[in-house]
Amino acid sequence: MNKPGGNSAPGGILSTGLFSEAFLADPFPLFAQLRSKGAVVALPVPSGSGTSSFWMVTQLEEAIQVLKNQLFTVDPSTIPLDDNQPSSPRGLGGLGGILGQSMIAVDEPDHRRLRSLVSKAFTPKYIQSLRPGIQKIADDLLDRVQEQGHMDLVNEYAFPLPINVISNMLGVPSEGQALIREWSELFSSGGAARQDPSRLMITQTFAEYLLKIIAEKRAHPQDDLISQLVQIEEAGDRLDEGELLSMIALLIFAGHETTSNLIGNGMLMLFDYPAQMQRLRADPSLVPAAVEEFLRYNGPVLAPAPRYATADVTLGGQQIRKGDTILTMLGSANRDEAQFTQPEELDIARSLNRHVAFGQGIHVCLGAPLARLEGDIAFTTLLRRLPALRLAVARDAITWRGGFVLRGISSLPVAF
Ligand code: HEM
Repeated sequence: MNKPGGNSAPGGILSTGLFSEAFLADPFPLFAQLRSKGAVVALPVPSGSGTSSFWMVTQLEEAIQVLKNQLFTVDPSTIPLDDNQPSSPRGLGGLGGILGQSMIAVDEPDHRRLRSLVSKAFTPKYIQSLRPGIQKIADDLLDRVQEQGHMDLVNEYAFPLPINVISNMLGVPSEGQALIREWSELFSSGGAARQDPSRLMITQTFAEYLLKIIAEKRAHPQDDLISQLVQIEEAGDRLDEGELLSMIALLIFAGHETTSNLIGNGMLMLFDYPAQMQRLRADPSLVPAAVEEFLRYNGPVLAPAPRYATADVTLGGQQIRKGDTILTMLGSANRDEAQFTQPEELDIARSLNRHVAFGQGIHVCLGAPLARLEGDIAFTTLLRRLPALRLAVARDAITWRGGFVLRGISSLPVAF
């Protein structure tokens, strides 16, 4: 389809903007600028032929097309390249590392095999059965701080809540949480991809820690997801040991980093929009709709794993060549003016909210029902138990961490 300005490359704004502190603090002005250039924008990365092999998808319809179309793969190693192809199409490479054999990094049929091994633990019905346990975790966290009248909402609530939930599901002891946090902070800032020895060491320590847990579950299976996966691995040819390690690392990482940021970012949005906060306090039945709006407006995942074209294809009026890299900017698609009324406004009661914060297609978030339930409990409990909740620092003291893939606030001092 034709969209205005679809063929012009935005040049410098991307190369300077995408990795800047200003982008991390507020990526949305750049996204708006990019959407006005087109649905699919060339990234100005130098290549031998002078034509870009990197593309950014900025609008909702095209984002869904990329994520749903299996012409676009997550695993660039599967694309046979022609001898005469001049560019360097595997620039970002696959996910690699410890997640490299997980479902998020592979295509069908391996993806379906891996996802089906754990999908029963994430059905909406099963997830609802976790409600009392998650409610207890939320209440215990607030019991610890209620008397003192202040807390860091990120470090004392938004972070520990989801990590405790996923650790309980998997059977990971609570002592491991500090290491998990160190590793996932490194990973979400893109550090794990860099060949820095101290960073590689943290990943190595994390992998060794997981192998130790696997060995313990092998010797003494319990009623948890890792024990079930170990038994599947031992039973035959459905899961090998590398895939087992990758699967556990993915569930730990995806299961807490994103949801922590949903809770932290969402609370900050409510401080930014006091009328919406008041509305939510007056009618807590709006919490599930508010969670959807936090996901749309300031979701934790700005972009999913890069996709790679397996054939020449036209997308948003652009000629994409086999091997080209595509970054699907969910954070931009979720503010697409053609799809949402007043997209730059937070409206917790938005009725039509077809956002893509959980992705789309075969890799659509497996943990979405869990993230929604955790969000529901986290916000409902906070608002009910801390009626005088307020920001305890100046708004401009809030800093962000992550990058153009995952993004969340570092700390959120509050008083109540
Ligand atoms: C607000 C919280 C969350 C957000 C915004 C989120 C977002 C996403 C997105 C955008 C994807 C697609 C990635 C891609 O296409 O490359 C994804 C995949 C995934 N998410 Fe989540 N996620 C959240 C919470 C969770 C939780 C709690 C879990 C639980 C373990 C989880 C597990 C997964 C898994 C396993 C995948 C890979 C699915 C596949 O490849 O088939 N996520 N998530």
